[in-house]
Amino acid sequence: MHFILLAYLLLAGKLYSPNGSVDGAKILAAYSFPGTSHFMMQKALMRELIKSGHQVTMITARSLKSENLGSNFTEILIEPVYDFWHDVKLDFGALHLFELTRMTNPDFIKMLEIIGVKTTEHALKQPKVQALIHAKQTEGVFDLFIAEQFYGEALLPLARVYKVPVVTTSTLAYENHMSQIMGLITPWSFVPHGFLPFTDHMSFWERLQNSYTSLHQDLYRLLVYFPKMDAVAQEFFGPVLGEVPKVRQLEKETSVMLLNSHAPLTTARPTVDAFVSVGGMHIYPPKALPEDLQQFLDEAEEGAIYFSLGSNVQSKDMPPEMLQLFLQVFGSLRQRVLWKFEDESVSKLPENVMVRKWLPQADILAHRNIKVFITHGGLFGTQEGVHYAVPLLGIPIYCDQHLNMNKAVWGGYAISLHFQSITEEILRHSLDQLLHNATYKENIQRVSNIFRDRPLEARKTAIYWIEYVIRHRGAPHMRSAGLDLNWFQFYLLDVIAFVAFIPVAVILILCLVIKLLRGNDKKVKKAKTH
Ligand SMILES: *[C@@H]1O[C@H](CO)[C@@H](O)[C@H](O)[C@H]1NC(C)=O
Ligand SMILES: *[C@@H]1O[C@H](CO)[C@@H](O)[C@H](O)[C@H]1NC(C)=O
Repeated sequence: MHFILLAYLLLAGKLYSPNGSVDGAKILAAYSFPGTSHFMMQKALMRELIKSGHQVTMITARSLKSENLGSNFTEILIEPVYDFWHDVKLDFGALHLFELTRMTNPDFIKMLEIIGVKTTEHALKQPKVQALIHAKQTEGVFDLFIAEQFYGEALLPLARVYKVPVVTTSTLAYENHMSQIMGLITPWSFVPHGFLPFTDHMSFWERLQNSYTSLHQDLYRLLVYFPKMDAVAQEFFGPVLGEVPKVRQLEKETSVMLLNSHAPLTTARPTVDAFVSVGGMHIYPPKALPEDLQQFLDEAEEGAIYFSLGSNVQSKDMPPEMLQLFLQVFGSLRQRVLWKFEDESVSKLPENVMVRKWLPQADILAHRNIKVFITHGGLFGTQEGVHYAVPLLGIPIYCDQHLNMNKAVWGGYAISLHFQSITEEILRHSLDQLLHNATYKENIQRVSNIFRDRPLEARKTAIYWIEYVIRHRGAPHMRSAGLDLNWFQFYLLDVIAFVAFIPVAVILILCLVIKLLRGNDKKVKKAKTH
């Protein structure tokens, strides 16, 4: 009886599956950028794909061995891990990560694109990747190609080699230039560029700067960056594909882009169905903490502060006087402080401060006694802070961190400090406000409730859209026809020129007619006088 019921349920499940199932799809993934934080999202995605019964072959800049993904996961590890900070130092001088606060945006964009080209080339050179490119059998080997939407466009021809649709995942969420991939316009009037410290309410001068930075990046991509990526693509895929399509063309064939963002942490902006928000994918239900941490936080009767500057910027590299300042202020608090600090032997640590090289951040933020999160404002950390409704003290250093923190300040759930300008008094006052002024907690609780409110949770959403693209062999029906226009048609310049021309033409014709009539008049008069 039970058996029949079970069989029935299984069958019904099949019948009710609305779109035909895509059990056990074969997916090729390529993640060539070795940024540590980026892999928070990559790992979550791979875990979920494997859990959903798919087989994944992943070209990856970081090993996922420790994830124990089983026999359906094949790793093609890019070795050695590319040291892109080394390149940054070669091009921009031996700069300290804390000094990235002083880097100009054009320089920052240039830097990203240089390391993008280098890491992509490094990936394509790998013998195992070469074997994939030159494989004899390509028909029916894979069903889908997934890649990171982050300065790795020369990997896109892999989708051409295996004749499969493309899904990309953007770790940095929605950047202004991405609208061009999907045939949209980004309104620079109210959508701030990801690297500018603005919100969606900009003054005239901010809009000017926003337009300049966005336009500069668009032109730089088109004129400097894409030709470099095209050269890399041609070098590595030319032998197989002959004339390799331009990456600008290839990126337009992206079926769906998964974005590491979600309302209300995003800027409301024009979009298409192919942009799918999956922010918070990396957040799992909290796990038990190691015993020492659990005890430290449980016993924090006045609450605790969690402090981490993320995986790139290391607290231990802080200038010594700044370190003393932090320790001084922390030592005078009634709260406990848990600090991700990479040098555990730091001297003269106050009693209420605990440092560890590595800490399970999300699980710590989930602890009821955590009252404030001091963060560099990276996207993943911000999402975790919001998810667990912990008010933020931001110390943004580079990239989108300023934007994330400005949004948080605007939303009333964070205080943001400029690293070089922090004084004892400013730090003490900020912490005091975040700890004791209830508006911050109320605001972040509200934002947290919105962030968690979704039709389908983040990882499930990602899998749904990936399987959707596999089921329908791409998503050309979601593609904006704007992609097929050339730029003056797209921006309606031809129509504007035409419409502007009509009054001019009318005036010209009138002038001509008047001139002709006058000429006739004179002739008539002349004729009369004679
Ligand atoms: C591996 O993939 C196959 C085919 O997709 C599937 O039947 C099997 O259950 C998967 N194995 C695991 C351990 O998930
Ligand atoms: C609490 O914070 C809000 C928002 O920053 C501020 O307007 C208000 O004055 C603060 N209240 C106190 C008592 O400091």
